[in-house]
Amino acid sequence: MSKNSYLVLQITDMHLFSNPEQTLLGVNTDASFNAVVDHINEHHADPDVILLTGDLSQDETMPAYERIADKLKRFHCPKYWIPGNHDDSDYINKVFGRHNIQSQKHVIIDNWQFILLDSKKLNAVEGHLTDDQFILMEDALGSYPEHHAMIFMHHQPLPVGSRWLDNLMLTNADAFWDAIDPFHNIRAVICGHVHQEHEARRGNVMFYSTPSTCFQFTRNSDPFGVEPLMPGYRAIEIFSDGSFKTDVHRVENFKLNLDPSAGGY
Ligand SMILES: [Fe+2]
Repeated sequence: MSKNSYLVLQITDMHLFSNPEQTLLGVNTDASFNAVVDHINEHHADPDVILLTGDLSQDETMPAYERIADKLKRFHCPKYWIPGNHDDSDYINKVFGRHNIQSQKHVIIDNWQFILLDSKKLNAVEGHLTDDQFILMEDALGSYPEHHAMIFMHHQPLPVGSRWLDNLMLTNADAFWDAIDPFHNIRAVICGHVHQEHEARRGNVMFYSTPSTCFQFTRNSDPFGVEPLMPGYRAIEIFSDGSFKTDVHRVENFKLNLDPSAGGY
C-alpha cells in the first residue's frame, strides 16, 4: 500500500551484554535500551521500519541479541540491521533469523530505497567498506535511479569534530563519497558509532549521526570523554516527493549512573 509518508526509526549502539546486569562506563546498557524502547512505544508506537545500526552487543553474545529481538517483538513493522565494530554478524543472523528480523541490505519502500552497508573491519574499531559493499551500493543505486535513497552504515564517513572518534571513522570514506557522487538520488547518509547527534551537509547529501541507547561521547572533544546526555534514537519521516524530516528523541528521567572519570571503554 502506498502512503504519503513513512516513519523510520534508527536505534543504534545498544552495547548489550550477555549478562543483563552488566554495566559499561557505569551505565546498565540493558536498562537504558529498555528505556528507549519504552519511549518509542509511548511516542512512536507504530513505525513503518526499524533500523538497528550496529554495536548491538558489547560482548558479541547470542543472549544479548536474543534480548534485543525479544524487546522489539512488540513492533510489528519490518526490522533490519547492520553490524558495528562490536558485533558478530553470524550470531546476529542466527538469532534474528529466528525472530523475523531481516538480513536484507537493500530495502525498497514505495519510491524510496535504503541501502544498509556493513562497515565492520575485522579486529578493528575503525570502519572499512569492502569491494562487496561498493558493489551492493552501486548495483542498488544503478538499478533504482528514480528511487530516493538513504544510506546507512555504522561508522561515520565524515568527521564529527572529535579527534579520537574521527581517528576511528570509515577509513575509506573518500572512496565512498567518490562512489556515490555520480548518483543524484541520495538524500542522506546516516550512521551510529559516534554516540552523539551530529548533522552536516556534503553537496546535496545530508549526513547525520545518532545518539546511542546507552552513554554519549562528549561532542567536539579531542580526547575520549563521555557526557551525561540521555539515551536516544532517531526518527526519520520520508515523503513521496523525496523530502524527509528527522529528529532525535531522548528518554527522560532515566537514572544514567554514568562514570564521568572513565578514560576509555
Ligand atoms: Fe558504539
